[in-house]
Amino acid sequence: MPFLNTSKLVTIERHIAEEGAAHPTSTGELSRLLRDLMLALRILARDVRRAGLNDVLGMTDSVNTHGERVKRLDLHANEVIYRAMDHGGHLCVMASEESDGLMRIPDEYKKGKYVLVFDPLDGSSNIDVNITIGTIFSIHKRVDPTLDTPGTLEDILQPGWKQVAAGYAMYGSSTVLVYSSGNGVDVFTFDPTIGEFLLTFEKLRIPKRGRIYSINSGNAHKWDQNLRDYVSWLLRPSDDGVRPYSLRYIGTMVADVHRTMYYGGIFMYPGDSSSPQGKLRLVYEVAPMAFLVEQAGGRASDGTRRILDIVPTALHQRIPCYLGSEEDVLEAERFLRGDR
Ligand code: AHG
Ligand code: MN
Ligand code: MN
Repeated sequence: MPFLNTSKLVTIERHIAEEGAAHPTSTGELSRLLRDLMLALRILARDVRRAGLNDVLGMTDSVNTHGERVKRLDLHANEVIYRAMDHGGHLCVMASEESDGLMRIPDEYKKGKYVLVFDPLDGSSNIDVNITIGTIFSIHKRVDPTLDTPGTLEDILQPGWKQVAAGYAMYGSSTVLVYSSGNGVDVFTFDPTIGEFLLTFEKLRIPKRGRIYSINSGNAHKWDQNLRDYVSWLLRPSDDGVRPYSLRYIGTMVADVHRTMYYGGIFMYPGDSSSPQGKLRLVYEVAPMAFLVEQAGGRASDGTRRILDIVPTALHQRIPCYLGSEEDVLEAERFLRGDR
């Protein structure tokens, strides 16, 4: 699949503004919100690349709400996004993987009609060894957009199909931003020489089937038998040569999903005997990724239910996830049901 499929020179700000203008009721507020978010992502793209030099690697003394030791870059990223977004007047509330509860908009700032939830740094275990990490974000409209009061947990716990926009930044060999506001998926590549995210791939479509599966096989002893049967089947050579699949697992959801978006196949973080709901969080990891995968023509489920239909019951709720090529995810769901 080509890295580039457009010759247009378009920055993400212009792309968002043009997309917004296409909506008759657009006020430009979402465009301004995203402009502010892009500033935070530019800063993080810089800081991630200089992490070793700026001495922001390593562990803090703190443990987050998930009982995970927090890396200094996690907290730094959380702070950068909050400070870029808290005063623009577009948000009524924020929440993140690193926040125990709601991240309130300071009293002195106007409350807007949007909600931002995010994973400031995805793939933390890979930070210190220079492996690709990312940032995931999801934007909802508040439940009652006529209010100008501080947002509530109800504004956060909305089903994924209601997302107004979602995206991720991936800090890899280059920094890319993958974004959708419901009109397909567009990819932007950061040009640090001009400090702009430039459109490099328009309307990305995930292949209907791939030949790669992505899962942490170290948990295989804890998997449901139907899942073991599915993975064994993927590894059994088929007469048409489609199988065996290859295993690719980076351990950064953003990177594993990004590869799946381009090459197809399936990314899985299943529940298992010790963690029945798996590890990944619905609100700010799985739902935004599911939105993007569906916008690219793929499929995203928890093994039985469509991810975007699931109404969250808690901010840090975990959910099993099977994301990727439509045919691959349907096949996995058949195995998980016990159908052969
Ligand atoms: P985070 O760093 O935001 O906590 O996310 C890490 C997640 C996700 O990026 C990745 O897919 C998964 O953890 C890997 O988990 P395992 O190491 O258990 O495979
Ligand atoms: Mn994460
Ligand atoms: Mn994280």
